[in-house]
Amino acid sequence: MGTDHDSTPVPVLVPIRSLGPAHRARIVAHLLALNADDRYLRFGYMATDEQIRRYVADLDFDRDDIFGIYNRKLELIAVAHLAFSRDPEASQCAEFGVSVLQKARGRGYGSRLFERATIHARNDGVDLLFIHALSENTAMLKIARKAGAKLERFGTETEAHLRLPPATLDTRMSELVVEHFAQTDYRLKQQVKSFWDFLAGVQETRQGVRAARHKSAS
Ligand SMILES: CC(C)(COP(=O)(O)OP(=O)(O)OC[C@H]1O[C@@H](n2cnc3c(N)ncnc32)[C@H](O)[C@@H]1OP(=O)(O)O)[C@@H](O)C(=O)NCCC(=O)NCCS
Repeated sequence: MGTDHDSTPVPVLVPIRSLGPAHRARIVAHLLALNADDRYLRFGYMATDEQIRRYVADLDFDRDDIFGIYNRKLELIAVAHLAFSRDPEASQCAEFGVSVLQKARGRGYGSRLFERATIHARNDGVDLLFIHALSENTAMLKIARKAGAKLERFGTETEAHLRLPPATLDTRMSELVVEHFAQTDYRLKQQVKSFWDFLAGVQETRQGVRAARHKSAS
């Protein structure tokens, strides 16, 4: 374990799992938690709650890939969308979009999600990855630049593109391993959360019984 500036433990291996339609409600909750500035940085416009709901309802989990990081309370603290090109002429291209909740920033989650998405993209035959960011978005541009992306600035907006090498046995194996790790981590978190919810229920019942006893005694 490493530590961030708030001395919150940050796992060295971040459990990033792929998300399916069953996670839609949590993806909506994650995006709705972004403030107006973050929505602007993420989507390139001040997305309203309604536009966010529509974006999530339209997510195509068969065509695209969505990755997420859950905390112990099973709250999605980070989400990345790898959108594959619909243009047959550019079938080996994909676009990366990401958001991390304010409280979880600066711990490397954005960078880890980007790495995870590039490995997946390579394994899926993508050779050019695009990132569309506002020029003021230092964190996102840093992630792209560090990965070796070429950045082109058009005033307030910056286009980054990263050439990806072909998949190897290593990229295929590492994706299997990290996905397995993340699924196991998620199941554990689910169990721990259910147990705490159960204990909270027991506690509530106890308090109810105690209150009833107290009332009948007085
Ligand atoms: C962009 C975003 C995903 C980064 O997430 P994150 O988890 O904080 O990113 P990381 O912790 O991996 O940081 C990446 C790099 O940016 C740096 N960084 C983070 N926040 C920064 C900030 N506000 N200003 C300058 N640099 C910053 C980090 O130090 C790190 O650099 P390093 O690798 O040299 O240490 C997050 O800020 C976010 O969700 N923003 C709103 C949505 C958005 O902008 N999406 C991107 C467009 S698709």
